[in-house]
Amino acid sequence: MSSLTIALAKGRLLEPSLELLTTLGYDVSAVRESRKLVIQSNGARFILAKPMDVPIYVEYGAADVGIVGQDALRESGANVYEPLVLGYGKCRLVVAGKPELQSAEWKMLAGLRVATKYPRVTRQHFAARGLSVEVLQVFGSVELAPTVGLADLIVDVVDTGRTLRENGLVELDEIFKSQAALIVNRAAHTLRAREIRELIERIARDL
Ligand code: PRP
Repeated sequence: MSSLTIALAKGRLLEPSLELLTTLGYDVSAVRESRKLVIQSNGARFILAKPMDVPIYVEYGAADVGIVGQDALRESGANVYEPLVLGYGKCRLVVAGKPELQSAEWKMLAGLRVATKYPRVTRQHFAARGLSVEVLQVFGSVELAPTVGLADLIVDVVDTGRTLRENGLVELDEIFKSQAALIVNRAAHTLRAREIRELIERIARDL
């Protein structure tokens, strides 16, 4: 049988994910050294995707398993198993804005504009609270939006809080906490049950 295909999120999660895979005995040197997006290693084939894209590769079976942030997973809405959190890549998805909104009853204001890389989660969050907002999707540097008047609020991940602070923004609400997670394609979970169970057990032992 072919080796498992493991989708890895590029960016902040990549290095700790490679460290985890090295501990498990995979040779990931080629992932670090090349710009290839598909890399055959000892015992696994790795594919490298943007964090937001990892869930869809796993949902549709292009990868058997994936390592991705729960923020991207929630945003994707992908129908996959999430058997294990991995304890790294911890961050929080928050609503943030200018400090003057802290004292204002911003939750009472109608028609606020919210810039975010997470439009789906953002719509769900505000709709669940009965707040009508206009959601603007941007693809990065979200903290810019309130500063230059594009939006009143942002929804974004916060790690150290430095980007918010240095752009004069404050946290107004926490939506959820996130960390890296292992996700599994539903069909592979059955068809390749033994290999996937072994992988999960090896990671769990290592955590
Ligand atoms: C993320 C996030 C924030 C920042 C938070 O952006 O969107 O901008 O990190 O980190 P901090 O709380 O430690 O300052 P990223 O660096 O991934 O780049 P992007 O904005 O271009 O997506």
